Amino acid sequence: MAFEKIIVLDDEMIIRKSLEQQLRKKHYSVATASKISEAEALLSKDQFDLMFVDVRLPDGDGTELLERVSEDPNGPLVVIITGYGSIESAVECMRKGAFDYIVKPCSMDEIDVILKKAESYSQLLKVNQYFSNEQANGSEIVGNSPKLKHLRTLLKKVAATDATVLVSGENGTGKELIAGELYRLSPRSGKPFIKVNCAAMSETLMESEFFGHEKGSFTGAAQRREGRFELAHNGTILLDEIGEIPLRLQAKLLRVLQEREFERVGGNRTISVDVRVIATTNRDLMKEVREGRFREDLFYRLNVFPIVSPPLRERKEDIPLLANTFLERMTRRHGVKIPGFSKEAMEMLVAHQWPGNVRELQNTIERCVILAEPGKPAGTDALGLFMPVHSSATFSQPVSPIPIFSEAVEAPEEDIPAAPSASPAEAAPPSLPSNDDSGEFKTLDELEKDYIMKALDFTGGKRVEAAALLNISTRTLRNKINQYRLDGEYIP
Ligand SMILES: Nc1ncnc2c1ncn2[C@@H]1O[C@H](COP(=O)(O)OP(=O)(O)OP(=O)(O)O)[C@@H](O)[C@H]1O
Ligand SMILES: [Mg+2]
Repeated sequence: MAFEKIIVLDDEMIIRKSLEQQLRKKHYSVATASKISEAEALLSKDQFDLMFVDVRLPDGDGTELLERVSEDPNGPLVVIITGYGSIESAVECMRKGAFDYIVKPCSMDEIDVILKKAESYSQLLKVNQYFSNEQANGSEIVGNSPKLKHLRTLLKKVAATDATVLVSGENGTGKELIAGELYRLSPRSGKPFIKVNCAAMSETLMESEFFGHEKGSFTGAAQRREGRFELAHNGTILLDEIGEIPLRLQAKLLRVLQEREFERVGGNRTISVDVRVIATTNRDLMKEVREGRFREDLFYRLNVFPIVSPPLRERKEDIPLLANTFLERMTRRHGVKIPGFSKEAMEMLVAHQWPGNVRELQNTIERCVILAEPGKPAGTDALGLFMPVHSSATFSQPVSPIPIFSEAVEAPEEDIPAAPSASPAEAAPPSLPSNDDSGEFKTLDELEKDYIMKALDFTGGKRVEAAALLNISTRTLRNKINQYRLDGEYIP
């Protein structure tokens, strides 16, 4: 990535002028300064990519400026200009964050090499920043309820520190969003943000993902590979769904949290890292500790600063703002114009229990945008198709969305909330309140069957479209049609 703007700071006019001339020939825009104060004035007015800085200057030491510039994640890279006699001080500057140094008198060839190196380094930094921001999920936390206001205050305070944070809450409440916000608000925001999804890996893979491995340490380890803790050095690591880590690895993780040290798989060199740790969980980790599935010492190491992401049903005031924000995003994404929600549709959204929380709300609105008639406010007809009536009895902490329409329900048994009996033959417990417009109590299978029928009615029996509406594959839909014997009844 080619640089645009460079500062040359040196009190010797000859050096200043010759560097300026040579850099201009290479089409860089160059500003010169003979004192630290002049360079600071330039930095306050514009953004520069690189700075050549002499060490001894009339109004101070170039290293003082170097320290200030290195603290700014958007500041220029610094190359120290030094005489033969003071190479030691140049080396000291490197320790303080200088990119490189040149010794006077310097040839253009040397400067060329440094410029090339600095340009590729700067590009790497930018790419890294880009991916870190992507990982941190750029969207902002929407909502103004007292619970979210309190959350924002907490986030601001704890982000400023290096404290380990444990974000807990039900599925879809925004735990990852909170983790991303913590990273963005923290002094480490210009540094790497590395995420590990602990729920998505086998135990062996997880160990090598965390700590890396040496070449040949296991079959298939053809190259040495740095683990995520190493990649996150000086930055932040997000251990997503930490409750899924098996006990054996918990012991290893504990050591990193305590000592910030580990060895790669198959290696014996101890690697030290400086990382800020954020973990998320949808499990009640205290309960996991009591039941022997999670180490108590690890829990306390993680729970230095606990943050709870509140479920949507406890902050219903946020629903209109969230719904309108998602409507705007989705209409833009799908290129349709929908002016808003009808009054009834908004009432329906606010009244709903949202067991899948904000994610469920977001998905519902996306599907509704696809279905709604362009130009008209989104109404209850399109929404109703995607909003099952949930019994309040289905909530327990933590809650997973009722797995209607999920492709593969792989949540461990204890994560699935107490749902009505799956067998239509078994009578529903009389104490459960109605969960259907008809005022009756319906089993999960009956609700699912109704839903599939609604979708098939809506699409005139077209299975591909119905499957797309229901967000399941046509194969799954076909299986469900067979399961509920809907073929004869509803399919033309
Ligand atoms: N307050 C909010 N404002 C805007 N968007 C939100 C908010 N909370 C959640 N979301 C959105 O909802 C979706 C789910 O959020 P996220 O992935 O952070 O939840 P989670 O708690 O980590 O879920 P899971 O437990 O399923 O991993 C994301 O698309 C996120 O951007
Ligand atoms: Mg998550």
